[in-house]
Amino acid sequence: MALSETIKTAPASTGRLDHIPGHMGLPIFGNTFEFLKDPFAFHHRRRQEHGSVYKFGVFGGQTVALYGADALEYVLMDRDKIFGSRNGWRLLEKLFPNGLMLRDFEDHRSHRRIMQAAFKPKPMQDYMLRLNEGIAHSMQAWSPATRFEFYPAIKDLTLELGASVFLGLEMGDEAAKLNQAFIDEVAASVAVIRRPWPGTAMGRGVKARAFLLAYFRDLIPERRAGDGDDMFSQFCKAKSEDGAFFSDDEIVDHLNFLLMAAHDTTTSALTTMVWALAAYPDWQNAVREEVLSLGSEQLDYGDLDKLVLTERVFKEALRFRPPVPFLPRFANEAFEFGGYEIPADTSVSVSPGMVHMAEEIWTQPTLFDPDRFSDNRAEDRRHRFAWTPFGGGAHKCIGMHFAIMQVRAFVHQFLQHYRVALPDGYQPRWLSIPIPKPRDGLPIILSRL
Ligand code: HEM
Repeated sequence: MALSETIKTAPASTGRLDHIPGHMGLPIFGNTFEFLKDPFAFHHRRRQEHGSVYKFGVFGGQTVALYGADALEYVLMDRDKIFGSRNGWRLLEKLFPNGLMLRDFEDHRSHRRIMQAAFKPKPMQDYMLRLNEGIAHSMQAWSPATRFEFYPAIKDLTLELGASVFLGLEMGDEAAKLNQAFIDEVAASVAVIRRPWPGTAMGRGVKARAFLLAYFRDLIPERRAGDGDDMFSQFCKAKSEDGAFFSDDEIVDHLNFLLMAAHDTTTSALTTMVWALAAYPDWQNAVREEVLSLGSEQLDYGDLDKLVLTERVFKEALRFRPPVPFLPRFANEAFEFGGYEIPADTSVSVSPGMVHMAEEIWTQPTLFDPDRFSDNRAEDRRHRFAWTPFGGGAHKCIGMHFAIMQVRAFVHQFLQHYRVALPDGYQPRWLSIPIPKPRDGLPIILSRL
């Protein structure tokens, strides 16, 4: 039967999603609590019950989940310009209203083009120097321990690196304040109470935003005047094809979003990476050998591509636990998918995290097996959107190469200084959203080589 004959159309007025399988849960709260408890288990259950297209209710709204790699490709490539990111990510609108990810279509394209200047090879080489220097400092400062909580340690380090690379700052007394402000902003993004009332997570998030914007704004004159090689200075000088610069408001908004987008995602990815190195000692040894074969204390920009095994383990870490497992969009027009007609003005969700565990794509997806990315197995090439920890299409992560560079620079130094292991019988317990993190800080056994 042709697809068009099986389309289930939306009723014209009320009950616009009645024809979509699934249920919205409790009045007001919907399925929010069940979803927050374990988003993956929630979606697995729904998918088994309803198939690849189903509705659910979280954070006071109705969403249609579209499961699968085809759905990721259809929504993210968005060839018909149907899906907006701004309304999709509306949970972030009070905190990052003008961030790149919350811009759509032509407006998004023009901002992204200006920002791209900060990710060209020359600035990237400068960032690499700053990364190497900051990492070297922590390699000296960390102390071996039988219980070293890796997550808070790497979070401090990524914040320090972010302050240096993005803002051109040495972190001193401000670190704790800035860190708390980021934590408050991110926590607010999934707050159940969405109004910024005093004493609520959203209230704290909105206050944190005001603090950070004022902090960045004070630095603009210095960054405009100087010739710094940090990202802040790049944003101050970057211009569009017709010579327009970012305004002060745009600079502070872009920086605020960028720091958030970079900080917790990279922290999460590095935590999964180090968990993997600790849990799979053979891989740890292989990656260390590869690192040592370069014969340099700090990673050279020109050697980045030589870390083939490091890349394989990192890819698998990102498949296993992608920092951004669900991607929301908003359908501005009606569309058809999977045999259903989905009306305009519907929130949709697609999921790299679910696709990364799809049995129809990956061989034994629940096994941690970096060799699935080797040239001869290349399981990630079974579908163009099989492996999408950085998203795809117009909003694909602009910091992807930066993140990869940072992880390689870290692993390169870390494995030259330290050996890692997990305590006997250790089973990590992860919080999956807003960005995955270990509930117990990931206690590892850290010893010097
Ligand atoms: C392992 C680390 C990272 C992961 C897994 C990650 C993941 C993602 C994903 C999935 C998206 C797309 C969201 C969507 O389509 O709705 C995205 C967008 C974005 N990321 Fe990353 N990211 C990482 C690191 C970074 C870093 C280091 C930066 C900055 C240097 C950054 C800046 C951004 C920005 C600005 C966007 C919005 C792009 C746009 O809308 O055009 N990310 N990221």
